[in-house]
Amino acid sequence: MKGIILAGGNGTRLYPITQSTSKCLLPIYDKPMIYYPLSVLMMAGIRELLIITTPQDQSAYKRLLGNGNQLGININYAIEPYPRGIAAAFMIAEQFIGNNTVSLVLGDNLLHGEGLADILQQATQLQEGALVFGYYVDQPERYGVIKFGNQQEVVDIIEKPKNPPSNYAVTGIYFYDNSVVAKAKQLQPSARGELEITDINKLYLQEKKLQVTCLGRGTAWLDTGQPDALREASDFIAVIEHRQGLKIGCIEEIAFKKGYIHLDQLKALALPLQQTAYGDYLLRVATEKNNYADN
Ligand code: DAU
Repeated sequence: MKGIILAGGNGTRLYPITQSTSKCLLPIYDKPMIYYPLSVLMMAGIRELLIITTPQDQSAYKRLLGNGNQLGININYAIEPYPRGIAAAFMIAEQFIGNNTVSLVLGDNLLHGEGLADILQQATQLQEGALVFGYYVDQPERYGVIKFGNQQEVVDIIEKPKNPPSNYAVTGIYFYDNSVVAKAKQLQPSARGELEITDINKLYLQEKKLQVTCLGRGTAWLDTGQPDALREASDFIAVIEHRQGLKIGCIEEIAFKKGYIHLDQLKALALPLQQTAYGDYLLRVATEKNNYADN
């Protein structure tokens, strides 16, 4: 399975913060936002990745992450000439996807929780259809919302409904079979002028090929669309990291624990970060390997 991180868009809801910077490069506590969706795909075991950015921001992402070889993964880059909607990612990524199945993760989504790595790894086994995750939220009208039938079956997904039919939002990590590219090509822009990811999911639903797994309250799903959400996400990461002394979304640690890189490579990654708590942490991971929890 291949993985796409969508890190384009204008970030207008965060202006003026994002007027000259890409949203997914903003800090969430001690690391750039994109580390979190990247770590999710790495935990899932996906090592062939494509990062989609605006034309002006691509060089900044390349400076940050390069070709990924230092992490034992392959990072490719593609440009979104202008924001056409999330579903346009599959047309931009058509060549990269080739004949493979694919996962898309929105660059501003942050997922954390016990057992998540297992759930994600399982999701990568998908051969046919689509798999998305539902999550109970307080303000569902801001998201794609799931409508359930009498037997708790999914009967519809509605993008940003005025009157949400449930509290279950669809999170920004999606798993698809190869027909997603053809499906994206047949979409028409929505009333707000975007090629909607919700419309892709509805096409799978019509074919009775949409699986929805609801994540429980033991999982944290945060998005970072507005200034308060940014601050809350930073606070959340800081609180957990301080309490445990373990980091969330540390891509170097994940690369090491997954066996994508060797000990020497981890130490080499830590070296230029010495003098920072982040670098110290990487050295601790390298030296105290056996003392660390695996998740
Ligand atoms: O976060 C989950 C939600 O994401 C889903 O529940 C919704 O169904 C889905 O439509 C989406 O809603 P948002 O309103 O949060 O999407 P937003 O426009 O904020 O875009 C999400 C990310 O994708 C953002 O970091 C920018 C990037 N993006 C978005 C668009 C529309 C692009 O790179 N290009 C685009 O054209």
